[in-house]
Amino acid sequence: MSGTAATNAQTVTITLDGTNRTATLPLLHGSIGPSVADIRKLYNELGIFTFDPGYGGTAACDSKITYIDGDAGILLHRGYPIDQLAEHSTFLEVAHLLLNGELPNAAEKHAFDMGVMRHTMLHEQLRSFYNGFRRDAHPMAVMCGVVGAMSAFYHDSLDINDPHHRKISAFRLIAKLPTIAAWAYKYAIGQPFVYPRNDLGYAENFLYMMNATPAEEYKVSPILARAMDRILILHADHEQNASTSTVRLAGSTGANPFACIAAGIASLWGPAHGGANEAVLKMLAEIGTPANIPDFIAKVKDKNSNVRLMGFGHRVYKNFDPRAKIMERTCHEVLNELGIKDDPLLDLAMELERIALHDEYFVARKLYPNVDFYSGIILKAMGFPTSMFTVLFAVARTVGWISQWKEMIEDPSQRIGRPRQIYTGPVQRDYVPLPDRG
Ligand code: SDX
Repeated sequence: MSGTAATNAQTVTITLDGTNRTATLPLLHGSIGPSVADIRKLYNELGIFTFDPGYGGTAACDSKITYIDGDAGILLHRGYPIDQLAEHSTFLEVAHLLLNGELPNAAEKHAFDMGVMRHTMLHEQLRSFYNGFRRDAHPMAVMCGVVGAMSAFYHDSLDINDPHHRKISAFRLIAKLPTIAAWAYKYAIGQPFVYPRNDLGYAENFLYMMNATPAEEYKVSPILARAMDRILILHADHEQNASTSTVRLAGSTGANPFACIAAGIASLWGPAHGGANEAVLKMLAEIGTPANIPDFIAKVKDKNSNVRLMGFGHRVYKNFDPRAKIMERTCHEVLNELGIKDDPLLDLAMELERIALHDEYFVARKLYPNVDFYSGIILKAMGFPTSMFTVLFAVARTVGWISQWKEMIEDPSQRIGRPRQIYTGPVQRDYVPLPDRG
């Protein structure tokens, strides 16, 4: 397993130049991956903070859930490689793994699946929240509102210190997010809400609620249901990304799980994060044809343009995002199942990827396709509007968010998150009365 320089050192020493002041800090070692300098005593010993905007070099927690090796392009969930889980597992089985640490046996799998599939209905009064939104509201705005409102309905599972409440809240969130998402879509298109069915699988139920109408029978294609289940697996968790860190920070204050997940949804919405899949489709539409790719790439290289190649690059992966390769394979399977022989969007995306991967600008910056580059093409082919792409990401990532939230709440050393700063504003000065301000 690649990773960082293996070391047996147990401490890190920091010395202030020109003084005899030294801090000797513990060096903590994980099971794999970079060791970390424990700087909790640094301020008391040397009166200094560390500075790391964006936390790119900071370990914010001790976690056993997901491991990423960005240089090797490796993603493990509780030690299992993402490509094996995508190939052999199901989304609910991965949810059990992320939440509880192990793959379930047959009895545990049945109990977990039943536990989730019996919580898919919403309190009937939650329906009225939808009517408060304009029909053209972005569905992510609806998700923020309705998921946050769950705190107002499920009072019997808000005690974060009660393990049973934590379990019920996790089941409710994992089970109800697809219903909330599908109803956001139905509300936007003016169709009646379709209730969940307990006889369908998780991904199948989601596609059913998205596409069925009361006017006729609707059968979900098993191939599309399997593809959807795999897409959900690929988006389930990803270490301490921006939205997961948001959920952890909100949870560290003792806020209830529904409020924390609503905060995660808000954070995921940004185009630099979960909103990138929607941004990729907009980018491909703007490029239009392969003939326009060189001009677009030139714009990306021009710093003043503020144009980025969406779906490329990653804070951690400086190699291929392993999820992108599985997503590209799934893209071909879905288009094949739908009888789409040559999808101009896919052709354009593949040509864009081919050109970028041979262009020094991207190679030098280690910019490769990430999970969002192909996902939008699949979702569009499956009939999702682009505005629903990030909603789907949120449905899947709820499993990761609630698993990381549970891990944090159950960590005896966890405390409220409260970063510090370097202050570069005005030093103390006296108030100037209005007449004296010139
Ligand atoms: C997700 O964190 C996670 O794990 C996220 C995620 C998850 O599962 O939770 O994986 C999901 O959010 C995937 C990323 C989706 N976002 C995009 O596809 C948007 C496009 N990508 C970028 O905006 C960017 O790559 C980030 C935000 C993803 C990463 O930004 P970083 O690590 O802060 O990189 P950077 O801005 O420091 O870039 C380093 C260099 C810069 O050039 P120089 O200043 O060195 O000349 O690379 C350039 C950047 O300008 N660069 C890009 C680029 N991404 C980085 N140039 C063109 N196109 C891009 N996409």
